Amino acid sequence: MKKVYIRSWGCQMNAHDSERMLGVLRREGYAPVEAPEEADLIVFNTCSIREKAEQKFYSQLGRTRRLKRRNPALKVVVAGCIAQQKGAVLKERAPYVDYVIGPQNIGRVGEAVHDAGGVFTDDDPELARRDIPAERGGSVKAWINIMYGCDNFCSYCVVPYTRGRERSRPAGSILKEIAGLAAAGFKEITLLGQNVNSYRGDASFAELLSSINDIEGIERIRFVTSHPKDLGDELITAMRDLDKVCEHIHLPLQSGSDRVLKLMNRKYTLDEYLKKVERLRKAVPGIAITTDIIAGFPTERPEDHAATVSALEEIGFDGIFAFKYSPRPMTRAAEMDGQLPEEVKSERLTEILRRQDRITEAKNKALENTVQEILVEGPSASEEERMTGRTRTNKIVNIPLSDRVSPGMLLQVRILRANRHSLEGEAVGGQ
Ligand code: SAH
Ligand code: SF4
Ligand code: F3S
Repeated sequence: MKKVYIRSWGCQMNAHDSERMLGVLRREGYAPVEAPEEADLIVFNTCSIREKAEQKFYSQLGRTRRLKRRNPALKVVVAGCIAQQKGAVLKERAPYVDYVIGPQNIGRVGEAVHDAGGVFTDDDPELARRDIPAERGGSVKAWINIMYGCDNFCSYCVVPYTRGRERSRPAGSILKEIAGLAAAGFKEITLLGQNVNSYRGDASFAELLSSINDIEGIERIRFVTSHPKDLGDELITAMRDLDKVCEHIHLPLQSGSDRVLKLMNRKYTLDEYLKKVERLRKAVPGIAITTDIIAGFPTERPEDHAATVSALEEIGFDGIFAFKYSPRPMTRAAEMDGQLPEEVKSERLTEILRRQDRITEAKNKALENTVQEILVEGPSASEEERMTGRTRTNKIVNIPLSDRVSPGMLLQVRILRANRHSLEGEAVGGQ
């Protein structure tokens, strides 16, 4: 048995691409290992969304040079978004890299490792029609691709350049894969795409959700990410009516200033966003809404930043991911005048996070003494003697270990205490 070490950075889509590469490599006789020192093949699945993500990869890559010197038979794959952007340059700069494989070519990793070396970064118009095997981590929750690429070209974002054109996967092949997952015992699926509600396969996104809702064995359906400009009533109604679709939506706002939103090419105003939030909350009571925010976009003025902070207060998100703006190669925003100093970006990010922390805490506190359904996932990663699961609104709940509780169970849990990032609970009815 040959051994492969896979490490990924970046979004869920990238994490799932790694599961697919492992699925392909398994067929070539590889088994995964936890330590790069033990591997015959190392795969780095990279992210270039922000400069920091890139740096993490490069510092890791540097360490493999030594491994390769010790074991000249070792092969190194650089996959993912940096691979697509840098291409052959990666091999020139780091000659100990054998293969460079972009996100549209991960299905070829098996064929690649039979070659002496190569660069696989071609556009693949057939990507959405390929069924690439996946070896998933865990047995309760599964990710599944419904679309690839992105055509939105938000001015700060590298993804349209790394993942290519938007392509929807045919509904039939999605449903078939999910039916297989249900048969294998998976309970929850998360549909993946950069902009899932612009899904245009042979069904609309809402129709797709409805067909998945009919698959026996699947208990919960989630999806990421939704773009506010494409969030329409059909999806809101589907979220209201389909019992397995969870009461959570991740809806990146990015900024609360219309002037900045326009420069970002987001194609909505704060007011339009607020109206959609209102419709969601009306149709789906108790829905959790989370978001992404960028601090310090080029030309952002103190009043633009203030508009973001006040939008956070007004909307009251259940959680946010916030980042300092990071100029990315090829993107329009990187060429804009008015790039802000690091200190300004940091200050604004800190304020955003501080304000949101209080909001998140209050939201979690409000759940104390309520009863919530959780899907049990397994032992808690952060706390010993605890099991962990999530509410339908995607909040982490830790409960005491018990013989009667096992992964994959749906459990009614009373929330005893809210911490900043998780909840403490106990099963109702003494389980
Ligand atoms: N397709 C998703 C986002 C994918 S990237 C969507 O449109 O919502 C995830 C998040 O990274 C983005 O929502 C954005 O907040 C952040 N991001 C993207 N490019 C960035 C950049 N250049 N600097 C800082 N944050 C960025
Ligand atoms: Fe990037 Fe915008 Fe596409 Fe999201 S929608 S991946 S932020 S270009
Ligand atoms: Fe994802 Fe990073 Fe690429 S966030 S799409 S892996 S740039």
